[in-house]
Amino acid sequence: MSSNTKKIRWGILGAARINQQLMPAIVAAKNSELVAIASRRPQAAQDTLAKYAPQLSNVKIYSSPDDLLLASDIDAVYIPMATEEHAKWTLQAIALGKHVLCEKPMALHAHEIEAISTAAQQHKVQVMEGFMYRFHPQFERIQRLIQSGTIGDIRSVRTCFAYPMQPARLYRIDRPIEQGGGAMWDIGCYAIHTARSAFMGARAHSVSAMSHNNEHGADISSSGTIDFSDGRYAQFNFSFAHARRAEFEIIGTTGGIKCENVWAKADETPSISWWTDAGEQKTETLPANNHFQLEVEHFVDCILQENTPLLTLDDALENCRVINAALQSAKTAQQIILD
Ligand SMILES: NC(=O)c1ccc[n+]([C@@H]2O[C@H](COP(=O)([O-])OP(=O)(O)OC[C@H]3O[C@@H](n4cnc5c(N)ncnc54)[C@H](OP(=O)(O)O)[C@@H]3O)[C@@H](O)[C@H]2O)c1
Repeated sequence: MSSNTKKIRWGILGAARINQQLMPAIVAAKNSELVAIASRRPQAAQDTLAKYAPQLSNVKIYSSPDDLLLASDIDAVYIPMATEEHAKWTLQAIALGKHVLCEKPMALHAHEIEAISTAAQQHKVQVMEGFMYRFHPQFERIQRLIQSGTIGDIRSVRTCFAYPMQPARLYRIDRPIEQGGGAMWDIGCYAIHTARSAFMGARAHSVSAMSHNNEHGADISSSGTIDFSDGRYAQFNFSFAHARRAEFEIIGTTGGIKCENVWAKADETPSISWWTDAGEQKTETLPANNHFQLEVEHFVDCILQENTPLLTLDDALENCRVINAALQSAKTAQQIILD
């Protein structure tokens, strides 16, 4: 069968809320077929299917993620579990020969991503962290603007992601950061990843951060600076206690780009405005685009064509290192130097 007609058969490991976006994306993606979902809670997988893929009648339901992973009719799994479970299940899936699309952030610790990388090579499977915004044409447009030299060399980046935590989601902040609770794992990882992406993958030299934690030891609001050396800085700010904001700004030596409605839902309209010191100024509105589906299709193409995914495991590792440096800085009130 040619790679144009072969389909990747997907299993989903969990009846998480994010299935609202990813389940229809997997169903709609070319070369993809949803064949199974597992949930450890009775009826949760059935309810998720009924809500987000009611047209499918042949999806097999498992009450245990272990059993789903043992199925021989599944090629790839999507892991939307709680963050602290990602590394364990990614490793388990790899060991059973499954390709893995894992929700962000892939792991709490860098050593877990190193283990995932080694295992993926051993078992010859593809593994990617699900930072969907990187597949949105909005980000491609920004990259083209940067590469065209319109705003000169990038010197400063500012990323902001915030929304007030809804009462139904309070369980996300009822445990300490070390156990996966808090805003850094949930939304701060975007703010840091985007800052790194805007500097086109440059390595961070040091991080300084401060955060306000709740009574459970989960961070609620954080601010910080990443030093990319040579006078290049990124400032990040994220919170579960602010009005909604999802934006970033990239300042170069001759101009700047402001990007609004990033990390958006599939139907939100993104926009970009850019300007130069020479007096050029433009606001561009991009069509709404389903970056979740684009992410799935990219990953499937990489599996079928044996290409390296756009989001590599080295990138996941570096993001994890910067996140952990920021957490350590906030905890110790010290600037953390990365090696
Ligand atoms: N890319 C994005 O835009 C995006 C957006 C939101 C979240 N995420 C990421 O996706 C992952 C999941 O986030 P989420 O908000 O969708 O998670 P969630 O709804 O809290 O679900 C996470 C896991 O917890 C279990 N669970 C769900 N509801 C539960 C409940 N009421 N009681 C007990 N257990 C429950 C489920 O496992 P079982 O079904 O096995 O019980 C599920 O797989 C996180 O890593 C997050 O960072 C990504």
